[in-house]
Amino acid sequence: MVAESPGSDAIHRGVWTPDVANSAEAMDTVNRLMIERLRDYVPQGSARVLDLGCGVGATMVRLAHEVDGFISGVTISRVQAEIAAKRFARDGLTDRCHVICADFAELLPAEPRYDAMVAVEAVVHSPSLENLLPSLVDRLRPGGRLILCDDWMTEKDRGLAARERCLDQFRAGWRIGSLHTVAELVAMSERAGLRMVEDLDLTSYCASVGHATAWSSWPWVPQP
Ligand SMILES: C[S@@+](CC[C@H](N)C(=O)[O-])C[C@H]1O[C@@H](n2cnc3c(N)ncnc32)[C@H](O)[C@@H]1O
Repeated sequence: MVAESPGSDAIHRGVWTPDVANSAEAMDTVNRLMIERLRDYVPQGSARVLDLGCGVGATMVRLAHEVDGFISGVTISRVQAEIAAKRFARDGLTDRCHVICADFAELLPAEPRYDAMVAVEAVVHSPSLENLLPSLVDRLRPGGRLILCDDWMTEKDRGLAARERCLDQFRAGWRIGSLHTVAELVAMSERAGLRMVEDLDLTSYCASVGHATAWSSWPWVPQP
């Protein structure tokens, strides 16, 4: 459900790292972790950041307050895009935040390229991460960063009938097209020309993990 609430507009899980005091902070954990990893990597004043699967723009607004530049977002939901646009207008951010309603697999070529791309609980919905990654690399400047916060399967999820059933329900219920292990993600990313610079496993900080998947934040940079 999407609502225009005055509280957190994030459509993602709360993450209760030890420094988190309340649910508002838990909802902001992934934004904070991404901002810490982007600040030094985007040019001040002219940074171009793209939020893939941006929901109603909650992460974009956070980025706009912390990164000096232009924040674009893409969501496949027209309703989400409309809510995000209204929010930017309300917060006086229309000159720096822009949302488009489109499939992130069909983005137009970006010129200039983005300095960074982030995606929170979004690329897991892609029907083919293997195909999506190269198209993202084409739109990322050399030395730019890609941060994916999402569900990744662990090897122990494989082979056991009960777990496979659980995963099938998860895939069907949430329209999950790209549930991969970390090893698979690393291989796909290297094929797309990316080098992993950090793997942050947040699984133990998620309040409820109803399925045996790891949730990680992944900054990537294009390979030299
Ligand atoms: C779980 S929500 C996360 C939203 C947002 N990142 C957040 O953290 O609040 C998943 C988002 O991915 C978007 N999405 C899923 N598949 C997409 C696609 N193929 N192209 C663009 N957006 C997509 C949905 O519209 C939604 O905004």
